[in-house]
Amino acid sequence: MLKIGILGLGEGRSTISAVLNSKKVQLKTMCDLSEETCKQRAKEFDFHSYTTSYEEMLNDKEIDIIAIYTPDHLHAQHIKQALLHDKHVICTKPFIDNLKDANELLELARKTGKKVFVGQSSRFFEPAKRQRKDFEEGILGDLITIEAHYHADHRWFLEKPWALDASFKWLYGGLSHPVDFIRWYLPNIEEVMGYGMLSSNGKAGGLKNEDTMHFIFKATDGRIARVSGVYTSPTQPTYRDSGMSTILRCTEGASQADYHELRYAVTDRTGEDKIITWGDATLKYYYRFEGQSHHAGEYQNYIEYFADSIEQGFTAYPDMKEGIGTFALLQAMDRSLKTGIPVKVKSLLEENQVEL
Ligand SMILES: NC(=O)c1ccc[n+]([C@@H]2O[C@H](COP(=O)([O-])OP(=O)(O)OC[C@H]3O[C@@H](n4cnc5c(N)ncnc54)[C@H](O)[C@@H]3O)[C@@H](O)[C@H]2O)c1
Repeated sequence: MLKIGILGLGEGRSTISAVLNSKKVQLKTMCDLSEETCKQRAKEFDFHSYTTSYEEMLNDKEIDIIAIYTPDHLHAQHIKQALLHDKHVICTKPFIDNLKDANELLELARKTGKKVFVGQSSRFFEPAKRQRKDFEEGILGDLITIEAHYHADHRWFLEKPWALDASFKWLYGGLSHPVDFIRWYLPNIEEVMGYGMLSSNGKAGGLKNEDTMHFIFKATDGRIARVSGVYTSPTQPTYRDSGMSTILRCTEGASQADYHELRYAVTDRTGEDKIITWGDATLKYYYRFEGQSHHAGEYQNYIEYFADSIEQGFTAYPDMKEGIGTFALLQAMDRSLKTGIPVKVKSLLEENQVEL
């Protein structure tokens, strides 16, 4: 069995649960700068191999995969260290926070031959998997347009010390999920434009950057798409309006995957329409902790997929190139907010001399 070390034990909590419940991977060590957090997780999971030193975990030759859940601005450095110690890497979203780091990481992965996978968890949630399967089986025809949103009352998140830093942006922290969906179905987004604002609730909470944003995208073949993100205000009842949702409008059908509710609606090429929900066993698999803390099941799905990719020698997606492409698009969105004009993704890649 492949052995894993987990770095960052806030969201890393879901990964601990995912790995401890998996028959494909084994937890070797967990690591957090905060000893208190390590102790809390050790007690919670009755798993007692932990360290506060990333270097010590990296020096453990038995560990095959490092899974990274540290704050966004540390991802590039932590991926680099893992590759330099000859480890395969899973890094949570957003993959990096500056395109300047892209070439060094691409080169290191090439040199070491190690696999790097981006933990875009939402792709691995049940309704998203079903939507993708239906789309790939062709029951909807060809994609015309895609719409995705992620709207959440994330005022609780403002208690995290890094949430109020000038470097923290919901554009990357939140919109990376629906933007990943756009690129999953329309990989060749060429240009984006959008508007954003910091809401009065966001200002009062101490946020420094936009918490309310709407964007439209154009692909190289002329198809268009849109996303929106709203993060500091109450939301609609979830039985009416999912917090995160993706709609595919296609030549012969349409589908909508609603995330937190485990709900999927589809009209197929025969004209039949249906709404699918999932039962208790699936709910228990995804919702392992209190409240809406639901990522453990998604992480278990992607960690097992990544383990298969190592053992069977295929590429697990999103891989590093795809993750960097999505990050370049997020940066283009950021620039469009600043300038008020459409921005080409290519210009960001060229400025940083990144070739994907
Ligand atoms: N669905 C998802 O994929 C999803 C959901 C939530 C968070 N995330 C991502 O997970 C990452 C962490 O978010 P979070 O909410 O857990 O934040 P957090 O602040 O709660 O936890 C981060 C942890 O990293 C530790 N840490 C910081 N620097 C470290 C270092 N140098 N070495 C070891 N440990 C260090 C901190 O002590 C803390 O415990 C972010 O990138 C976030 O975007 C992804």
